[in-house]
Amino acid sequence: MILPPQHPLAAGRTSDSRLVRAYRGERSDTTPVWFMRQAGRSLPEYRELRVGTRMLDACLDPAMAAEITLQPVRRHGVDAGIFFSDIVVPLKLVGVDVEIQPGRGPVFGKAYADASAVAELTAIDPADLDEAAAPIAEAVRRTVAELNAIDNGSGTATPLIGFAGAPFTLAAYLTEGGPSKDHLAARTLMHADPGAWRALMHWTAELTGRFLRTQVLAGASAAQLFDSWAGALSLADYEQLVAPASARALSFVHDLAYSTDTGATDAGATDAATDVSNGTGAATRSVPVVHFGVGTGELLGAMRGVGADAVGVDYRVPLDVAAERVGAGVPLQGNLDPALLAAPWPVLDRAVRDVLARGAVAPGHVFNLGHGVPPATDPTALTRIVELVHEAAA
Ligand code: CP3
Repeated sequence: MILPPQHPLAAGRTSDSRLVRAYRGERSDTTPVWFMRQAGRSLPEYRELRVGTRMLDACLDPAMAAEITLQPVRRHGVDAGIFFSDIVVPLKLVGVDVEIQPGRGPVFGKAYADASAVAELTAIDPADLDEAAAPIAEAVRRTVAELNAIDNGSGTATPLIGFAGAPFTLAAYLTEGGPSKDHLAARTLMHADPGAWRALMHWTAELTGRFLRTQVLAGASAAQLFDSWAGALSLADYEQLVAPASARALSFVHDLAYSTDTGATDAGATDAATDVSNGTGAATRSVPVVHFGVGTGELLGAMRGVGADAVGVDYRVPLDVAAERVGAGVPLQGNLDPALLAAPWPVLDRAVRDVLARGAVAPGHVFNLGHGVPPATDPTALTRIVELVHEAAA
């Protein structure tokens, strides 16, 4: 499906932004930068706005979700907004009993750890989400209308990144009924009852895929799939029992394309996100997709393999090593250790430059943390990192 002409990618407002160019393996005047969890408790303006509103209620309030998404863009001058929402929002929208407890994370009314519990979920039609997700689409539209007017010095509008949780990470919460350390219930179910596991993964893939598609159709210029807890898996289990569902989730955005007659055949581009060329210099590009997980050093190649254009790397694997693991020509995102945000500036400065130097081996690099911003972070450190990344040569 071709994106509507007013979509920021189709209209040419974000298709040559630093972010989108990096995701297709091109370098710009400088390295683009954003931070996972840039919207949230590290910002006093966020804490003030959230007083008296529960997390999931904030996600379903379009004006509030848009404002929270924009706060870090205005404050830090980052190269992208990440939509303020949560990976469990699509579950909530189709009627699953879930809340987000501060300091803990998603907690469900029950654990979905066996075939009969899974059958309760799969009785819900994932297509029900499309109508229920109206507040999400509205929040994205409001956010993108504002981002269109924010040029952080790159000469383009600021792109919005949409996101969703990967089926395994959602299943890790669903099977435990809440957060866990080792995700034992999910790792047990996949072997104890492969049929129930497949049904659960198939269902979560469609639900989360539709959530991602909603955000892109409403105006997001890139999509990130978070498989935060996939690092708990062996490569064999990941490939056999998880990767097909992640590929299915991404299939819901892979057909969303836009046409360009400008940079598609630029020399030096790897054209990672280009799927069709009609021989006239015009081409159809798909929306760039990033795939990220924590502790997934052993899985990086497989995570690229499910259909990601770029791979997000946590802080455990240096980017030059990650580049070898994902294979040549793959753009990378990451990977400053969030722990260093509280270190003295000279230490942080050195670490940022080291990440940039190692990231230079990839065709495109988007600077980020190796996981989310810790809530106690002094936000001025983040602003300073953005300045440093932008000043350093690409
Ligand atoms: O800036 C951003 O990155 C924006 C949006 C965002 C949130 N959650 C907002 C949020 C994103 C991309 C997520 C994804 C998410 N949610 C993931 C994948 C990313 C990751 O961190 O690995 C996961 C595993 C979740 C589940 C979840 N939701 C957790 C573990 C928590 C933290 C609980 C806590 O209080 O420490 C949440 C809540 C949450 N999601 C908050 C925010 C801003 C904090 C809520 C608050 O401020 O009260």
